[in-house]
Amino acid sequence: MAIIIDGKAIAQDIRKEAAERARILIDKGIIPCLAVILIGENPASMSYVTSKEKDLAEAGMASRDIRLPSSTTEAELLTLIKTLNDDPLVHGILVQLPLPKHINEDTIIMAIDPKKDVDGFHPLSVGNMVIGRKGFLPCTPHGVIVMLQKMNIPTSGAHAVILGRSNIVGKPLANLLIRRDINATVTVCHTGTRDFAAHTREADILIAAAGSPRLVTADMVKEGAAVIDVGVNRVEDASAKKGYRLVGDVDFAPAAEKASFITPVPGGVGLMTRAMLMQNVVEAAEESYR
Ligand code: GUN
Repeated sequence: MAIIIDGKAIAQDIRKEAAERARILIDKGIIPCLAVILIGENPASMSYVTSKEKDLAEAGMASRDIRLPSSTTEAELLTLIKTLNDDPLVHGILVQLPLPKHINEDTIIMAIDPKKDVDGFHPLSVGNMVIGRKGFLPCTPHGVIVMLQKMNIPTSGAHAVILGRSNIVGKPLANLLIRRDINATVTVCHTGTRDFAAHTREADILIAAAGSPRLVTADMVKEGAAVIDVGVNRVEDASAKKGYRLVGDVDFAPAAEKASFITPVPGGVGLMTRAMLMQNVVEAAEESYR
């Protein structure tokens, strides 16, 4: 039976550290501030944004909550980003994804000043990450790495298999895992992979970021593997108060029978993502002061 990784406890430590760093800045009159832009009314996005703002407030930091209708044009959003780029009281800018179809995500991400790119999505941040230069790391992949480290899960020489090749999770995670200090060997599976279960069965570290509820069943997990579930899927559940319930990409209970470590959903990676964002916002504020 696997050790269930307590994302809540690990994230709490990171948030506490971020709050302490924020306190030092606040004492100097600098209130770390994140502008959060949400376009439209995607229920999951609304919930994420609210959580991020709550975390900031708890750490004594500020947020600019900017919610705009889905009819917002790309030009309007670009103008807003320019204003925030130029605002010295704003240290980080987060545009919640996905955006409505008529807005090009790349164009928007590239408009954010890399110094304020706390999501780590700007091509300059991505490039810095790939070549190991200092810069903002994307929150979910960074959170996964920190979780592995905090749990002392061996990564050097380990075979890590990632399901999913998104720009937000799969691709950056593959890059972080092959860094010399992590030293894993990485396989990335995606929708074009022929027999992905043949790969997952070889994984010492299995990271599911495919966005498909309970895609990973116990037979796909190697005995003793560390299983990290990045999936957050809403599935209908008439017995739940909200009418739905969150499940990961992993069929948790049977997989936990075979794994050595496993992350729960909720209570796992999602909390780490939020904590790493706090860290990036403090860092952006610290850098602005230097
Ligand atoms: N949508 C899903 N995950 C993320 C994230 O980490 N940042 C932003 N901006 N949007 C997201």
